[in-house]
Amino acid sequence: MDNPEKADNGAPADRRDHSRGWHIKARNERPPEYPARFPVPDELVPWETDYPEYLPPYYVSPVVLANDSSLNPKGWADPEDTSLLDALPFESFSGRLPRDGQGRPLNPIGRTGIAGRGLLGKWGPNYAADPIITRISRATGSLELLAVQRRDNGQWAIPGGMVDRGEEVSRTLSRELHEETGVLLEMEQGRLIYRGYVDDPRNTDYSWMETTAKHLHLSPEVAALMNLRAGDDARAVRWLPLTPKTVRDLYASHCALITEALAGMARLNPFGLSEEDLETVAHLLRSLREGPAG
Ligand code: BGC
Repeated sequence: MDNPEKADNGAPADRRDHSRGWHIKARNERPPEYPARFPVPDELVPWETDYPEYLPPYYVSPVVLANDSSLNPKGWADPEDTSLLDALPFESFSGRLPRDGQGRPLNPIGRTGIAGRGLLGKWGPNYAADPIITRISRATGSLELLAVQRRDNGQWAIPGGMVDRGEEVSRTLSRELHEETGVLLEMEQGRLIYRGYVDDPRNTDYSWMETTAKHLHLSPEVAALMNLRAGDDARAVRWLPLTPKTVRDLYASHCALITEALAGMARLNPFGLSEEDLETVAHLLRSLREGPAG
């Protein structure tokens, strides 16, 4: 396997601190088909820190290889042989990307303990879009998230998905929302919550997820008009009551995305909530920041 030690990167120093918060699942979790990750202690995450013993297993899922777009015109994955690509990505939402000795893009946060693309199709950033839809239930007074239960691991999640080749992100947000929940909403008016790298259990040294998350809060009247229907990728769809526990148990980085959306609501009240509803949001936010109880 190629050793990505020879990273020619200009990673800013603040990525070191960033890695502590963001590179947890990408080092400690993995889909069942992945080999065990090579151990990467916190201080050895950054590429610019020497780690001569680092020898992560190289893994590419058979599903990715079967979807090689150079062999299969309908395939969604890049070829394994990077010389068949017109160009490799040199930047992403994370900025200019570090590279290995062969010019292949490296994970902008640092080592993950796995080389190869794993279950991700693209070398470098794999782009997703996350539509965050909330309401306050008239019946219970609690803040709820339009959530899907993922078929792959049973976790509740924002109804997000992958950006198709050449697709506008605002279109992906509305398309995924519709495909996964049956709800039709124009996401262009949504509030931008986050755009960048996300800590996902599928991330590897060479392939990782980046997302664009937008938030819309619906009035109880508008939310009541929505007919929910779970799509193919979802086991179930529901208005999930948000408590510190349900937020923390969400898939991948969704807890961080929801926390950011709540903080924006509490700070700027962009959706014109009443004092009482704002207090519901602020209360949940406080409990989330206070610690794991709840
Ligand atoms: C999911 C998104 C998620 C992204 C990164 C995608 O597969 O659909 O909701 O944010 O992965 O974890």
